[in-house]
Amino acid sequence: MEDVRPVEDDCQAGHMQAAQAGHSRRNFIKGVIAAGASVSASSYVFKEGAVARAQAPGAVERLVTLTVNGRQRRVDVLPQETLATTLRYKLGLTGTKIGCDRSECGACTVLVDGVPQYSCSMLTHQVRGRALQTIEGLQAEDGTLHPIQQAVVDEQGFQCAFCMPGFVMNMVAMIDENPNPTRKEAAQFLSGNLCRCADYNKILNVALQGAEYTRRG
Ligand code: FES
Ligand code: FES
Repeated sequence: MEDVRPVEDDCQAGHMQAAQAGHSRRNFIKGVIAAGASVSASSYVFKEGAVARAQAPGAVERLVTLTVNGRQRRVDVLPQETLATTLRYKLGLTGTKIGCDRSECGACTVLVDGVPQYSCSMLTHQVRGRALQTIEGLQAEDGTLHPIQQAVVDEQGFQCAFCMPGFVMNMVAMIDENPNPTRKEAAQFLSGNLCRCADYNKILNVALQGAEYTRRG
């Protein structure tokens, strides 16, 4: 379509361009940054869209049955959902903590078929059909604490205790594998768990006391 703008308009536009040309270098840079930001943002949106398409309904069955602490639990699980998320936010088992959320601290440790695993780094769909145990499942039905839990109480082994459930689950696995560990062996076995309060001496006391309670039955 033919441009029918009056000549005055073109002159005005020219003046504006001239004025803009006089704008500071700072404005120019601001514009470039803004453009870059919108490119970044749009590529992020694009990636999100791609992920959403890749996870279209029907790709993975979402309603799954998990065996947690000896009970069967039906739960709706997203394809990319981690076990820690499912346990905490879908099943209400908030004893499992999320610290680093990237396989570094061990706060999220649970047992999968008796083996300690970082639940922040496993997909829930990976554990279908496997036996899961969290800290909520350690206590006996009559309320008797697991020997490791009893040792935590007796030794007062943690400060803030955020790391405690992960340590306890790993200790349970440890005494299953080695019921009579030395202090050094316990430290080695538990080396995948970190305590930000650095209460390691008392934590090792718990581990050894818990092992002893277990041996005594
Ligand atoms: S939260 Fe899983 S290892 Fe730190
Ligand atoms: S007792 Fe605080 S992080 Fe371990």
